[in-house]
Amino acid sequence: MRLLVSSMKVDGSADGPDMQPLLKVENLVKRYAKRSLVGAREELLALHGVSFTISPGSTLAVVGESGSGKSTLASCLACLESPTAGNIWFEGKDIVTLGERARQQILPQIQLIFQDPASSLNPRWSVLEILIEPLILRRKFNREEMSQRASSLLERVGLSPDIVERAPNELSGGQRQRLDIARALAHEPKLLILDEPLSALDCSVQAQIANLLMELQSSLAMTYLFITHDLAMAAHLADEIAVMNRGRIVEQGPAEQILKQPRHETTRQLLAAVPRMVRALPALEQ
Ligand SMILES: Nc1ncnc2c1ncn2[C@@H]1O[C@H](COP(=O)(O)OP(=O)(O)OP(=O)(O)O)[C@@H](O)[C@H]1O
Ligand SMILES: [Mg+2]
Repeated sequence: MRLLVSSMKVDGSADGPDMQPLLKVENLVKRYAKRSLVGAREELLALHGVSFTISPGSTLAVVGESGSGKSTLASCLACLESPTAGNIWFEGKDIVTLGERARQQILPQIQLIFQDPASSLNPRWSVLEILIEPLILRRKFNREEMSQRASSLLERVGLSPDIVERAPNELSGGQRQRLDIARALAHEPKLLILDEPLSALDCSVQAQIANLLMELQSSLAMTYLFITHDLAMAAHLADEIAVMNRGRIVEQGPAEQILKQPRHETTRQLLAAVPRMVRALPALEQ
């Protein structure tokens, strides 16, 4: 995860002419319509001109308090929501303005993992069906190749291929999150957006999944955008940290710098909210 940190500048841009960012977000704005208590129409600015870049193979953690716009950002990047304004360049192509067909070809390369896998795992499908669906969409494999791939995806995320007949609700929370990661991997994504993927898990399971994510990133050379409330987790996993407050990035830089020299009040508050930080870091490294 730290492979590319030395080539990243504080503003998130990359050094060198051939180091094209995998993702470049420019002035992203998302406005929601809402109703006030007295029923009047109001607008809520969930994203307020967000810009950053991520280099291939690196991890950017986005941290911020509840309601700061982190999930809205994730939804816009995965094209689940349309931004009100701004651009999202993925490998040099703006997925906001791209035609629908071209966008559909790019989208499998951007996978989103949520805190609660229930939203992405169909409860009526078996583990095998969940893993085979993305493979069917890729139209490259016959039936036997697909079930072999499903087994190797399960092994890759530390699950036994014996569970293929089970439904998601017959798995533990940690197993479900591993399955959701395997489902995402079936698309062979370049960018994994992880929206609080560890928050619903016990501490020891959190450490296992965090380690799995790090291992997968180094073996598959994926790029991560890791969303969390937890600055300690962000510092452990990320090369760079972006701190959000009310729809804006208020501070961004190398993880160590953000931890040691926080400049913005929001960052200081997030740091103060993590008194267990020093204890948590060695635990994660087990
Ligand atoms: N579909 C929607 N319609 C209207 N408002 C929304 C919608 N989705 C999010 N919002 C509002 O946008 C703001 C940002 O929400 P968002 O879910 O992005 O925050 P978050 O940083 O992910 O928070 P949390 O840490 O609690 O998950 C909030 O004020 C939220 O109420
Ligand atoms: Mg959220």
